[in-house]
Amino acid sequence: MTFTGPTILILILLLSVSTIHAEPVDQRTSNAGLPDPFMFSDGTRVSSKNDWTRRRAELQDLILRYEYGQMPPAPGNTQSVELQRNARDHHNQYKITCGPDQKISLVLDLLLPEGKGPFPVILRGDLCWGSVPDDLIKQITGRGYILAQFNRLEMAPDLGSETTLLRAAYPEKQFGAIAAWAWGFHRCVDVLTTLDFVDKTKIAITGHSRGGKAALLAGATDERIALTVPNGSGTGGADCYRVQGRQSEGIARITKNFPLWLAPDFKQFAGNEDRLPFDQHDVLALCAPRALLMTDALDDQYANPHGSFQTFHGAREVYKFLGVPDKIALHYRDGKHAQNEVDWKALLDYADQVFAGKPSQQNLNPKPFDDQLLFKWTAPESK
Ligand code: GCU
Repeated sequence: MTFTGPTILILILLLSVSTIHAEPVDQRTSNAGLPDPFMFSDGTRVSSKNDWTRRRAELQDLILRYEYGQMPPAPGNTQSVELQRNARDHHNQYKITCGPDQKISLVLDLLLPEGKGPFPVILRGDLCWGSVPDDLIKQITGRGYILAQFNRLEMAPDLGSETTLLRAAYPEKQFGAIAAWAWGFHRCVDVLTTLDFVDKTKIAITGHSRGGKAALLAGATDERIALTVPNGSGTGGADCYRVQGRQSEGIARITKNFPLWLAPDFKQFAGNEDRLPFDQHDVLALCAPRALLMTDALDDQYANPHGSFQTFHGAREVYKFLGVPDKIALHYRDGKHAQNEVDWKALLDYADQVFAGKPSQQNLNPKPFDDQLLFKWTAPESK
């Protein structure tokens, strides 16, 4: 068969349209188990690290298209102005501007350890909920980390109005608030990587709950981030859509209560979770081979610790395949929904392990449940 110029043009147009839009749920086949992350959409399976690079790109595209919406592009014009540098308090602040006409702005706040650095950093986006308590700040900086914080709501509000500055700046992109918050993490990383007292190879990010969902997406989509720590991130975070308990949130509740957090069409997967072409183990796996720690609480039924047990084991197959099984870790503590001192200690110990080779004494591959895993596939033999 020969193709004429106009036919080729039509084919290209059809192909590009089919890659932009998510397939409607009723046209998707059902898969009750966790989808195999190593299986390309065309049915072939990953067998080399190069294959994984291609599959990772395919997964990222699917995940953004179906779940979070397309993130705005990296603006390429991030600038920062020092608002304060206080050597006595070890406290610096920067105003970041970027995007069309430099109209997007946010404040990045740094608390620094003693000394000259370069220091590893822990970047947290939840300043909208206040800073971490003073005694924790002392532990973080005392262990040689910069605590960098910003308010993710400067990118998009928690609730309500669609007309945020970020949406107005990128009207051609359809993204939810979680993607906007993740984009805010990336802009902070743009600035952190320009500071001479920052160790650019040791940037960790964290967030709690909705902030944990944003931190996970930010880490999944930016290879400059060396360690990603979603805490109590639940639905749209490290939780598993296909494994839900009676009290867990799931797609129906999150898309009803927070209709602007995820991609507008995602709600069609409520009750149709088995038709999603991925699950959240795939989002975790996008971080590989970079380090990832999930911190969750056993009584946090709404965020569904049974779900994160499944996604951890699913994503771990990808880390095994890439030869770094210990770069993914899971920490459960007793108690409820919070990012408390126990969670922070797990984070700092794991950061010390990943960044300074100091083995963590925490139980990072726990088996609190005897749940059966919802998948049978394993990592392929790496060629
Ligand atoms: C709500 C929401 C959760 C979210 C939580 C939070 O409960 O349903 O998905 O994680 O708020 O951010 O505290």
